[in-house]
Amino acid sequence: MIAIFDSGYGGLTVMKPIINLLPQYDYIYLGDNARSPYGNHSPETIKKFAEEAVEYLFSKGAELIIFACNTASSTALRHVQHKYLKGKDEKDRKILGVLIPVAQQAVKITKNGKIGVVGTKATINSNVYETEIHKLNSKISIYQKACPLLVPFIEEGWHTKPEAKSVLKKYLRSLKDCHIDTLILGCTHYPLMIKDFKRIMGNKVKVLPSGEITAESLKAYLGRHPEIENKLSKNKKREFFTTDDPQKFQDFAEKNLGMKIKIPQKIIINNVNNE
Ligand code: DGL
Repeated sequence: MIAIFDSGYGGLTVMKPIINLLPQYDYIYLGDNARSPYGNHSPETIKKFAEEAVEYLFSKGAELIIFACNTASSTALRHVQHKYLKGKDEKDRKILGVLIPVAQQAVKITKNGKIGVVGTKATINSNVYETEIHKLNSKISIYQKACPLLVPFIEEGWHTKPEAKSVLKKYLRSLKDCHIDTLILGCTHYPLMIKDFKRIMGNKVKVLPSGEITAESLKAYLGRHPEIENKLSKNKKREFFTTDDPQKFQDFAEKNLGMKIKIPQKIIINNVNNE
């Protein structure tokens, strides 16, 4: 089965296009809502949260885990890949992130070589997007902006209010001044405000959310790796797990993403090692 992991609700913006494109597989989703947002935590704390999530998802039988969360991808992906995929199970399990496919797409579409990146403090401080983009083309200029207030607005369902739009406008001002032509939404939550991003940046700027790009890249990956694809169960099962309020999770999915989902199961993941 394929597992999708996020710090909270945001990963649903990645899961939705993945399921649309690849409906045949079984999926589980884990949202660590009780400890979200991850973006203001230290890299050490995020690595610990990510380890606990990976252990939980492997214990549920996942063969392939997707770190939908940009914060976890940028800060902890290499760490968990190293920790959990180096043993005898290496060939049977995979953990993938969302950053590289999005960086590749941005490099492909920029015309003026000026790319903007928005994300949480942890994602921007990790500099991972800049590193990945420069591996592909060192001449591209990268302009980054952390937008830490957006996730709390979105988690509260306040992102449609004028206060959220005015904060977003302030965050984007410096990126507008740099005349970028491509903007990476380096956070799973931001697609919920994509119309505002597009309106503020204007129609000359291409705004890239990670969901669709990740879905296409996953499809291509499974095509290249039949040894993984063959192992994935294909009964169209969808299960949801959250570390916080299941009803709130279900309501959020329906209201903000139009996803009718089974009520999630509430779980505790911070003591898997002690059980
Ligand atoms: N899911 C996170 C991300 O994509 C945003 C929320 C958080 O800070 O935990 O970066």
